[in-house]
Order: sequence, then structure tokens, then C-alpha cells
Amino acid sequence: MGLRKDFLWGGATAANQLEGGYDQDGRGLANVDVAPVGEDRRAIISGEKKHLDFDDEHFYPAKEAIDHYNRYKEDIALFGEMGFKTYRLSIAWTRIFPKGDEKEPNEAGLKFYEDLFKECHKYGIEPLVTITHFDCPMHLIKEYGGWRNRKMLDFYENLTRTLFTRYKGLVKYWLTFNEINIILHAPFMGAGIVFEEGENKKEVLYRAAHHELVASAMATKIAHEVDPKNQVGCMLAAGKNYPNSPRPIDVLAAQQADRQNYFFIDVQSRGEYPAYALKELEREGIEIPFEEGDRELLKEHTVDFISFSYYSSRVASGDPEVNEKTEGNIFASVKNPYLEASEWGWQIDPLGLRITMNDIYDRYQKPLFIVENGLGAIDKPDENGYVEDDYRIDYLASHIKAMKEAVELDGVDLMGYTSWGCIDLVSAGTGEMKKRYGFIYVDRDNKGNGTLERTPKKSFHWYKKVIETNGEDL
Ligand code: BG6
Repeated sequence: MGLRKDFLWGGATAANQLEGGYDQDGRGLANVDVAPVGEDRRAIISGEKKHLDFDDEHFYPAKEAIDHYNRYKEDIALFGEMGFKTYRLSIAWTRIFPKGDEKEPNEAGLKFYEDLFKECHKYGIEPLVTITHFDCPMHLIKEYGGWRNRKMLDFYENLTRTLFTRYKGLVKYWLTFNEINIILHAPFMGAGIVFEEGENKKEVLYRAAHHELVASAMATKIAHEVDPKNQVGCMLAAGKNYPNSPRPIDVLAAQQADRQNYFFIDVQSRGEYPAYALKELEREGIEIPFEEGDRELLKEHTVDFISFSYYSSRVASGDPEVNEKTEGNIFASVKNPYLEASEWGWQIDPLGLRITMNDIYDRYQKPLFIVENGLGAIDKPDENGYVEDDYRIDYLASHIKAMKEAVELDGVDLMGYTSWGCIDLVSAGTGEMKKRYGFIYVDRDNKGNGTLERTPKKSFHWYKKVIETNGEDL
């Protein structure tokens, strides 16, 4: 009973949300750098508004973020103090290949992550590396149109081969694309896509998705060739869709909404396009740009494990009159009257995590890894910078409890759990700093004011105990 003895407890971050140092040591410009805080952000990250450079009107939080680039040793020491077994981070592509299409990598970028991984190992922390977390070199967007272009496969191949080779022995857990299904909701972030007037958006998205899916299989192949110890996972923005009522039209709508997300994982885990997607795309006259060898690559190089983020369940309705939606979440859904919501309108459903885990495990029968979960909230530090975040502890404890039930009562095979934003960082959806997830408070506000000082919150000490007891003491 209980979680695995070697359960991978830890926390998760993404390069663009915490590193800063956007122009240090030869780093190039990326899509996420130019996403400002404020009203325009949503239109920009969804590819509806073309915004490919900095301007004076906006504040760009990723430029400095929480300056982890220059303070990673201090941050990792704090993760070590909490007893992390793993740390999920992402690579900024533009540190390794500043423009994206160079043949030779930037040594300073490679060295940065090498040092960072070594720092993790000092504390017995196993890195879990997301290769692409809402990250695409700007040059590849301007020159090639991002993932709509098949040429991206060559650049991604070069990137992944470089990483697997250089970090052999230092990293064994890899994720190819963060929340690969985000491409349907925030395609500029997910695939560097900006829509052109009059084009068939769905066609653009599914073509780009095909390129990412093939790239993911190719990376999996290379990872296993370079080091058979490498384990590669896919990554889904998960959350079971409940039908809004027992009416069959709602049940069908929920099934379809789930399939929209599972589509990606069906390809990455089962190795082929599912029948329902082929039919739908065919019906809509959308051609998938299969090239010679794609089918074999997808089939032969499926992922080793399924990772996912979980913040909330969702609700789907087949009735067009039902339109009261949740706010604030890129994945908007019908509102669930039985659930409370966070200050940003994200509904809170711990049991939904157990349901979601079972759903995914039933479908794929591969080990699961929860690589994001957490509560974005406003913290109010006292005069010493200390935050009593009982609300965060409650959220996490209830989700970890449900997670354990999925393992202990339902038999789901779970490798680990990394809570999102283990140190306060920039919000992906809004660009805000005040939407905090961390165990460690960072003194910085939405406009970039603050000392950047780090202070452990109450949840820091709580999580340390959770890890020490392998989840027994919540
Ligand atoms: C996930 C992303 O969608 O949710 C993270 O992988 C993101 O990058 C997290 O930060 C929380 O979302 P937000 O918008 O509150 O930052």
C-alpha cells in the first residue's frame, strides 16, 4: 500500500516564466518573451493578434521574470531543503539555438543547463526536463511561420539530439511538448502560430499539431538511441469533462470534449491517429500532411509514460443555450455549480483528479506522472515577508489525498507528483506575478518592482513534511 518507495516528489517550472536573463549569454528572442502582462496578452498568445516585438506601451514580464538565471543555485538549495526528489524545468530553446536554425549550438546556453543539472544532483534531485514549454524562437516564427512549417522538424531534431547527447547521464526523464493540446487554445504559445486573415484556422492547427506529433516521436526515437535509460513522456493539459446533465446530448458532448484533448495522447501513446479524429478531419476537408515514414515513426516510437497537468475538471454541454462559462482559464468550460473557484475563477475539484487519473490510466495503461497541479492565489506577506498560505496547503492536501486514492484504491501506476510553480513565477495565462503558486515567496509585483528576495511560505514546511513521509502526513 502507499505510493512507490521511489515516488518522485517535487515541483515544476518553465524557463520563460522564471529564468529572465532574456538576452544574457547569447540567448535569442522567443515567442513568450514578447507576450506582455495585461489585456492584450490573451489575443497575442492565441495567435489572433500579431505582436512579434517589444514596444514601449507594454510591460514584458519574461524579460527578467524572477531572475532564476542568475539565482538558480539559491533556488535549487531551497528545493533541496524541501527534500525534492525531482525538479521539473524547461529548456529555453533560444539559449541553445538563439535563432533556432543554426547548425551549431550556443555553448554558453548548454553550459548553463549542465551546471543547473549538476546543482540538482548535489541535492539528490533528478531533473525532469520539458524540451518545449510554450517556447519557440522568434526567428523561426518570422522566417518559417512556426510549427505550421514542416521544416520545424529538422530544427527540433537538431535541438533534441544536442540535448540528449550533451546531458546523457545527467537527465533521464524528458517531456517533448508541454500541454501539447494547448495548441488548440493558445497556438502562439503552443506552436508559434499567428493566424493570417481568411485562413482555415482548424486546418492550420491540425497541420501544426501533426508536425509536433511527428517531432515528438522522432525525439523519442533519438532519446532511446542515445541512451536506452532515457524515459520520454508526453504531456497533456488534463481535466475530465463531465456532462452537464445525464441528457445523452450532454454525455456525447463530454465525450467529444475529452477526445479533443486525448487525440494528441492517442497519437503519442498508441502510435496512430484515432478513428474519430480521422473521420472528423475528413468530414471537414482537412488533410493531414502525412509524409513518407510518418506513420511508422509514430507507431514505433510511442512514449514511455503519460504526464499531465491537472488544475480542474471541466463540464461540457450539448445544448447551445447553456453558456455560463468559467472565467480566467485558457480552457474555458461550462460552470460547475457544485464546485468552488479560485480568485481567478478556476474551479476546484480534488476528486476530479482521481477521476481524471483513472480515465487516463484506463485508456493508455502506461505509468502516469502528475507534472503540474496547484492553486494560483494572492499572497499577503507579513512585515518579514512570511506568507501563511493555508488555502494553498488545503488545495494541495486535498488533491494529494485524491491522488493517493487513485493509486491505493484504484491501482493507478503513478511515478511522481510535481506541483506547479514551486517558487512564485510569472503566470502563463495572464503574465501576472500576483497569481502565485509557490512554496517560496518572491518579492516582485506585476510591474516588475521588488527586491526578488526569496522567503519560504508556510506551505514550504508543510510540503517538506509531505515528502518526508511519502505523502502519509498531509
Ligand atoms: C499550465 C502551464 O497550463 O498552467 C503553465 O503549463 C502555467 O505554464 C500553469 O503557468 C498555470 O497557469 P497560469 O495561467 O495560472 O500561469
